[in-house]
Amino acid sequence: MLDQDIERVLFTEAQLDTRIGEIAAEMNRDYAGKEPVLISVLRGSFVFMADLTRKITLPCTVDFMSVSSYGAGTKSSGQVQITKDLSDDIEGRDIIVVEDILDSGNTLSYLLEILKARKPASVKLCTLLDKPDRRVKDVHVDYSGFTIPDEFVVGYGLDYAEKYRNLPYIGILKPCVYGGE
Ligand code: PRP
Ligand code: MN
Ligand code: MG
Repeated sequence: MLDQDIERVLFTEAQLDTRIGEIAAEMNRDYAGKEPVLISVLRGSFVFMADLTRKITLPCTVDFMSVSSYGAGTKSSGQVQITKDLSDDIEGRDIIVVEDILDSGNTLSYLLEILKARKPASVKLCTLLDKPDRRVKDVHVDYSGFTIPDEFVVGYGLDYAEKYRNLPYIGILKPCVYGGE
């Protein structure tokens, strides 16, 4: 059972549902009369993206992008590469980048620069989790679900070694799983 590797639950399904409803309500107000493009940064954001978009009542479109940090290990190196680009042009569009977690900021600072160069009408960032203790690059967040301490979190799209994404809640991984104390 995946559950056995979890030290404690940080956010339950119900807590996630409530907070995501609040974020969607904000977006519904902020984008009234517009038709935003929600851009999911794969793979981590796929669960959040699915739940968030179903709470948005405006006309909107969705697109997907995949980036990877160079190098193995649990820390991103700062070198980021696009492994799957968007399907559609974003010039003149109001885009909302949807991420599961903002950690060092390396992924997003790079990605946001690339997207801004394509001349969208506006760019906003929505992240479910924000871990400010580990920030290296300054990244402006427009919609943030929860600010979290520097703990190893998994579930609800977030992985450790590609596992645990399918847990329906967000939990803290037991250190013994990743070779900690
Ligand atoms: C994770 C997470 C964010 C990024 C945040 O993705 O989903 O995209 O790291 O880290 P940063 O702020 O330090 O750049 P990861 O590269 O593990 O890929 P994944 O989404 O496929 O798990
Ligand atoms: Mn990711
Ligand atoms: Mg990952």
